[in-house]
Amino acid sequence: MDIQILFCLLLLYNLRVISLSFTRKILFTTDSYIKEFDVESNTVTILADHADRVHFNHDVMRFRYPSQNYTLQTIFTTGINPGGIAIDNVLGHVYFAHDNTKISRCNLDGSNAVDIHTSLNGPFALGLDVKNGWMYFSENGVPRKMVRSRFDLSQRQDIYTQSFVAYSLDLDLDEDILYWIIDESNEIKSANFDGTDIKTVMNLNAHGGKYDNIAIRISESYIFFTEYGKLFRMNKTTATSPSLLFTDTKNILSLYLYEHTGKKRHSV
Ligand SMILES: *[C@@H]1O[C@H](CO)[C@@H](O)[C@H](O)[C@H]1NC(C)=O
Ligand SMILES: *[C@@H]1O[C@H](CO)[C@@H](O)[C@H](O)[C@H]1NC(C)=O
Repeated sequence: MDIQILFCLLLLYNLRVISLSFTRKILFTTDSYIKEFDVESNTVTILADHADRVHFNHDVMRFRYPSQNYTLQTIFTTGINPGGIAIDNVLGHVYFAHDNTKISRCNLDGSNAVDIHTSLNGPFALGLDVKNGWMYFSENGVPRKMVRSRFDLSQRQDIYTQSFVAYSLDLDLDEDILYWIIDESNEIKSANFDGTDIKTVMNLNAHGGKYDNIAIRISESYIFFTEYGKLFRMNKTTATSPSLLFTDTKNILSLYLYEHTGKKRHSV
């Protein structure tokens, strides 16, 4: 798959509490759209169509969500192969992997951009455990690895070495577990934050999967993952019998979970 078509997306969450509505949404991106899937009503809405953008392959963009205005605002232009993006909401920093070698950081408005590390081996998937000060990322260059380090890339610890690339990871901050999805081997893997207890949570091949397992997100109760344009959800505890929520005509490249109450970001 052409990883160039993955693009960077930054959501600024509106933390307003709307007590009467409890709508739960999943935002996802394809190569030219940002869409919103409403879990309760089973409907899909196009939030942004960026097919007319020349440089969206290499932009960190933001928009307010939810809002009436889904105009994408570019805050930073990355190097080649932009990958994961993660937010330190305490310090107001955006971290992103790009340029085949770099993890960089800027403020939420794109100011004060700084390269934190410039000689990584194909950094891509990225996640932050802000509370404990650990960053998790994949290195997709050979040897391919899942890694953790401090936010300044110090205290690097290689968690796992694998044969295939990982485009997406997510952190279960309730249970201190790292999850990642491996496209070519069709596996969902997990490890404790400290790198112990590495498991194959699910072999998607057995479920019929065959490549294009790009994105994964973890909520309080569920594991969400994609298989080309299909969005699946399965019970996090049992990790069996995924149910199909939605099928897009295009490959789904990234997922964000949103709960309207504003109390939790990742609890659908
Ligand atoms: C929508 O958002 C964009 C980008 O933030 C801004 O430039 C524009 O003025 C906004 N439009 C309205 C109608 O608020
Ligand atoms: C997931 O499975 C466990 C074990 O069978 C069950 O207790 C739990 O209620 C299930 N969660 C959901 C959200 O269905």
